[in-house]
Amino acid sequence: MCGIVGIIGREPVAVRLVEALKRLEYRGYDSAGIATLASGRLERRRAEGKLRNLAARLETEPLAGVVGIGHTRWATHGRPTENNAHPHASRRLAVVHNGIIENFRELREELTAKGHVFATETDTEVVAHLVTDEMDGGLAAEAAVAAALPRLKGAFALAFIFQGENDLLIGARQGAPLAVGYGEGEMFLGSDALALAPFTDSITYLEDGDWAVLTRDGVSFRNAAGETVSRARQRSQASAFLIDKGNHRHFMAKEIHEQPEVVGRTLAHYLDMSNGCVRLPFELPFDASKMTRVTLAACGTAYYAGLIGKYWIERYARIPVEIDVASEYRYREAPLDSSGVMIVVSQSGETADTLACLRYAKQQGQKVLSVVNVATSTIARESDAAALTLAGPEIGVASTKAFTCQLSVLACLAIAIGRARGVLTPERERELVSDLIAVPGLMAEATKREPQIEQVAAALSKASDVLYLGRGTSFPLALEGALKLKEISYIHAEGYAAGELKHGPIALIDEEMPVIVIAPYDSVYEKTVSNMQEVAARGGRIILIADRRAANEAAIDFQAVVAMPDMAPDFAPIVYAVPAQMLAYHTAVAMGKDVDQPRNLAKSVTVE
Ligand code: AGP
Repeated sequence: MCGIVGIIGREPVAVRLVEALKRLEYRGYDSAGIATLASGRLERRRAEGKLRNLAARLETEPLAGVVGIGHTRWATHGRPTENNAHPHASRRLAVVHNGIIENFRELREELTAKGHVFATETDTEVVAHLVTDEMDGGLAAEAAVAAALPRLKGAFALAFIFQGENDLLIGARQGAPLAVGYGEGEMFLGSDALALAPFTDSITYLEDGDWAVLTRDGVSFRNAAGETVSRARQRSQASAFLIDKGNHRHFMAKEIHEQPEVVGRTLAHYLDMSNGCVRLPFELPFDASKMTRVTLAACGTAYYAGLIGKYWIERYARIPVEIDVASEYRYREAPLDSSGVMIVVSQSGETADTLACLRYAKQQGQKVLSVVNVATSTIARESDAAALTLAGPEIGVASTKAFTCQLSVLACLAIAIGRARGVLTPERERELVSDLIAVPGLMAEATKREPQIEQVAAALSKASDVLYLGRGTSFPLALEGALKLKEISYIHAEGYAAGELKHGPIALIDEEMPVIVIAPYDSVYEKTVSNMQEVAARGGRIILIADRRAANEAAIDFQAVVAMPDMAPDFAPIVYAVPAQMLAYHTAVAMGKDVDQPRNLAKSVTVE
């Protein structure tokens, strides 16, 4: 969504605000701005487009001041223009906001009737005028914020600074993350620990409903009722070196190549390699022997990971899995009984739709297990147990290493639940674990296909439509491959179950549209060959991602074959994700697209 940051200290803050925003830019990058308090006077600098435009403006029009706030935007209300860029201000204060104020229209009408003049199309501006209105009525800054917050409906993280208040920074959190950072004679606010990593690794996450009053010497926390509360201080795992591209051109490239390492690290966290079994690093928060059903909810790439997890849980744990995209599930009023379990999958742990599904399941008396990449995230903290993916911070908006780590964890969960339910023999468990142990090495082998994939991508970059096909666990991977391509190259792409082709989509096949087929040598490979023959018979151009034996047996004149290493098919999607990701990446690069910050997207969608 958006990234917000605040600093109150003894040194000028403008440069550090921009540095913190750089670490938040993956959350949104339509426009950016900062506001500071210089000798009691509020001043703003804002710019449309990427953060570099704001930095350029500050070069020529610097800002003084030792108290300030900053914002990088993913537009929800109001076009991504300079005028709509945060911070928003009134004559008394400036404010930055991540989230959505759902009742902003009625508040705007009320405040306009009281004489407030609005200058933007945003929902956020009503917050500035609402607090100002309370101050006009005689309340001091802190009391004015306390009076205004309960009137706001929706999800928000806010940071305020006030005209004339040189030792005051206020933050508030309702449904969107906000952290306080502790320094020496200075204090910080940030949307996540990554933003604060250059300044401090000592942080406190506000709880929903909390607000925090910061001075340069400390902080006091209030809950929704206005009572002073204490909140735990923790060491953040995010550290300064992590957001650095190394010798890669883009974060996405770096994160694709990190996969053998981070998948290996994740598997090591869940496997007892010497005994050939799964050893979960936490207690399952439910009695697996009594489970009747698993419900899985997630969004985007995490949803496709869940779809593959469904195949594995049903195959190895012999339990039915219902799965839905979180944005649909949260409103379906699905009947849930207490003998079921909800699993949510999320890289950021802040996706609003997925969080809503977690809360729905808990209201229905279910236990919730999350597969999540950020240990301090809201989803991790509200789950009964969090199965962490150890992917490390994922900066590229297009998810890659988080996806393969999610698959790794879901595979281990399926095995652990299968064993707990007594439906998986120790021998079968040892076989599966041995197949998993081989995965990181196979992924490293798969990355060596990159030069060939780059050539295939050059041809793909000319296409206007692309079809991805797969069967079994390769079907959700076909969906994910299509999502990767469309979200960074903007080429229209669709994933389909290969067996579905003849029920309509085959009408699309012609010499123009490339067809990417993901086909490890598994139990349904022959069926996929028949589908490829149907495509070839109609002049379709097939790019096959398969092992050499599979390609030879198909005996089809392929446009290209990305020859994958031979492997046991059980966990092929974890390895076959690599060429699918690389294909999307190199196609987008060939087209000159902004790979790490694709248009209209944000890394974490904390609004519905
Ligand atoms: C992935 O490439 C997308 N950027 C997006 O679909 C993402 O997977 C989705 O928004 C879910 O995010 P989460 O995993 O942080 O919940």
